[in-house]
Amino acid sequence: MRIRRALLFMPGDDRRKIEKGAVLGVDSVIMDLEDGVALNNKVAARSTAATALREVDFGGAEKLVRLNSAASELETDDLHATLPAHPDGYVLPKVEAAWQVQEVSAQIEHAEHEHGWPLGGIRVLAIIETARGIMNLREIAGSDPRLDALIFGAEDLAGDIGATRTPEGDEVFYARSAVVIHAKAFRLQAIDTPCVDLNDLDGLKAQTRTALQMGYTGKLAIHPRQVDVIQHVFTPSPEEIRRAKRLIDAHEAHQNAGTGVFELDGKMVDMPMVRAAKTLLARAHAAGVDPNNI
Ligand code: COA
Ligand code: MG
Repeated sequence: MRIRRALLFMPGDDRRKIEKGAVLGVDSVIMDLEDGVALNNKVAARSTAATALREVDFGGAEKLVRLNSAASELETDDLHATLPAHPDGYVLPKVEAAWQVQEVSAQIEHAEHEHGWPLGGIRVLAIIETARGIMNLREIAGSDPRLDALIFGAEDLAGDIGATRTPEGDEVFYARSAVVIHAKAFRLQAIDTPCVDLNDLDGLKAQTRTALQMGYTGKLAIHPRQVDVIQHVFTPSPEEIRRAKRLIDAHEAHQNAGTGVFELDGKMVDMPMVRAAKTLLARAHAAGVDPNNI
């Protein structure tokens, strides 16, 4: 699965922002056809996004399109307008049931057959941002092999349940935890809600660190200045990599000597810490950092 640390949204009807987003070195760009586009511009956004997919050089960035929701009656036309331009994947908003993922996946598969593209090549990421979505996480997470990630959407969820957003986020903490647990149970990526405060980069960093600590592997971004902060937090530092390597080396030496559990720097080490160290090295590798060179 490809790495998705920061995923930057841009309105699908805004060619200027799409071109700016293409050169930032962000892991994924998401051209939005849903809530970032005015109702009277939905049709134009489809063709702007499709044309950008054909014309703009996105470098190494993954090219994603966010569709309108299954309930909107716009989704099928969104797909028909953008599929021929072959995005790398689709982001589905307000997912509440497995069939919503499966229906989109079937339409994508049809296009893959039609164009002779590799089957399953176009990926799907589902946003969970309603009470029903949280309730049905299990069936959504297991819905389709094309599904790569669950994305948590705090703003819509708060609206749906009548919660008031706070900087601490206690009101959405259960849902934020539930999304990451279900994602991991099904070997999916977990991607955190965006920070809507565009100027508070310290707050963004703190939020991203919490997400990382919870097990999230990426976070949505809505402004170019958020990209580096997010990608930095999700990339292990040389210090963390060195510590992980030391722990794994010490573990191997103890295993060879017939000891399963031991002490390192005043802390007990056994298998969970070893697994965590290996996960950290895998994250470094995926982020393009070779742990062997550190
Ligand atoms: N992607 C790419 N470029 C972006 C961008 C984004 N998400 N947001 C801003 N930019 C560009 C702007 O075009 C501007 O460049 P320019 O002056 O050369 O045109 C530069 O970055 C600075 O932008 P700024 O003036 O700070 O912001 P803004 O007032 O133009 O836009 C928002 C603010 C919130 C409207 C904008 O960031 C945005 O559209 N974000 C994405 C919103 C979205 O897609 N929401 C749906 C999902 S939640
Ligand atoms: Mg939303």
